[in-house]
Amino acid sequence: MGWLDVLWNPVWAISTALLALVVRMQRRGRWDPHACTVRLKGKTAIVTGANTGIGKSIALDFARRGARVILACRSEARGTATLKEIREKTGNRDIHLRLVDLSSLDSVREFTKRILEEEKALHILVNNAGISGLPRQITKDGFDVSFATNHLGPFLLTNLLLDLMKRSAPARIVNLSSVNHVKGEVDFSHFHGENLTYHRDNVYNHTKLHNIICTNELARRLEGTGVTANSVHPGVVMTEVMRHYPFMFRFLFNCIGIFFFKSPDEGAFSPTFCAVSEEMEGITGKYCDSDCSLVLPAPLARDAALAVKDFEICERLTSKL
Ligand SMILES: NC(=O)c1ccc[n+]([C@@H]2O[C@H](COP(=O)([O-])OP(=O)(O)OC[C@H]3O[C@@H](n4cnc5c(N)ncnc54)[C@H](OP(=O)(O)O)[C@@H]3O)[C@@H](O)[C@H]2O)c1
Ligand SMILES: *[C@@H]1O[C@H](CO)[C@@H](O)[C@H](O)[C@H]1NC(C)=O
Ligand SMILES: *[C@@H]1O[C@H](CO)[C@@H](O)[C@H](O)[C@H]1NC(C)=O
Ligand SMILES: *[C@@H]1O[C@H](CO)[C@@H](O)[C@H](O)[C@H]1NC(C)=O
Repeated sequence: MGWLDVLWNPVWAISTALLALVVRMQRRGRWDPHACTVRLKGKTAIVTGANTGIGKSIALDFARRGARVILACRSEARGTATLKEIREKTGNRDIHLRLVDLSSLDSVREFTKRILEEEKALHILVNNAGISGLPRQITKDGFDVSFATNHLGPFLLTNLLLDLMKRSAPARIVNLSSVNHVKGEVDFSHFHGENLTYHRDNVYNHTKLHNIICTNELARRLEGTGVTANSVHPGVVMTEVMRHYPFMFRFLFNCIGIFFFKSPDEGAFSPTFCAVSEEMEGITGKYCDSDCSLVLPAPLARDAALAVKDFEICERLTSKL
């Protein structure tokens, strides 16, 4: 019997379909955004990388709840298309596009300068933008481009908006990390592109570990301010996240994904849970799994001494000398 025959075997097909159904039911998690009646009228939210994927679904949810939503995107064309779509779908006109390239510290400073000039308050910041599988490239700031985009850019952006958030308290910061952080390592020379092997999602895994470490240290520093900071794993989601991988890899990801992975809307559940739910009020420094439950991240992500050091190094790297 050839492998094609195996594929057509009805027993195999039915059991796969059943398994997919079970996975589909389980991945919905224990919190349903449609059942959550929290309104965000009068609240301002920023979502980075909001033009596609999980970020777009998060922004849509905030828009439906009546928030003033700022889509922080790097492409004017892609951002404008999403802006129109969200306004049309929700009837909320208070949606705005602001451009930022997170891989550039100058661009982040320009973006936050404008936000601080224009916005009276900021209640929710979702650091969602991220990339995976990029080849080695050093930015003009001297950083590996993946570290700049996934970690150092969002780090600076968050820090520059902190005072505004403190004035707007209660306020929440939600950082999109990934379960991949468990395979990440901390080596501060990585920031500059040293000692990195650009094999598959290796670099991505490191950046996602730094996300949790710094979120936790930030949460500690923010204690008593009314601003919370948590990290979240959205699940395995069918988005453009694989765009820098070889065709065959993407093809396989999508084939399996149709059955087993989440849609972007489902991927937005756990980040939205952290950003709006009553359950998460006042909760800070935690890591939320894709089913909206709080779980422990990898041991390195819980090392408080390492976090102090990491945060200080990131502060130094992102402050203009
Ligand atoms: N999908 C998953 O299975 C999965 C699993 C775990 C964690 N995550 C995390 O979830 C987050 C969202 O991922 P996704 O799956 O929705 O990916 P996606 O579909 O590729 O969307 C990523 C977003 O980030 C933006 N972005 C990338 N580089 C940027 C830069 N330099 N400056 C500004 N924006 C930039 C992209 O803008 P352009 O469209 O202009 O490129 C896009 O809007 C990421 O942090 C990712 O690590 C995803
Ligand atoms: C989350 O916040 C921390 C602390 O500000 C920052 O270092 C990190 O880069 C952020 N993560 C993401 C995914 O933007
Ligand atoms: C990183 O690379 C430098 C040389 O670029 C080397 O001296 C150092 O030992 C390396 N560190 C690790 C942890 O491998
Ligand atoms: C990155 O993390 C994922 C998920 O834990 C793992 O499957 C993969 O092998 C890791 N990549 C590397 C290069 O360690």
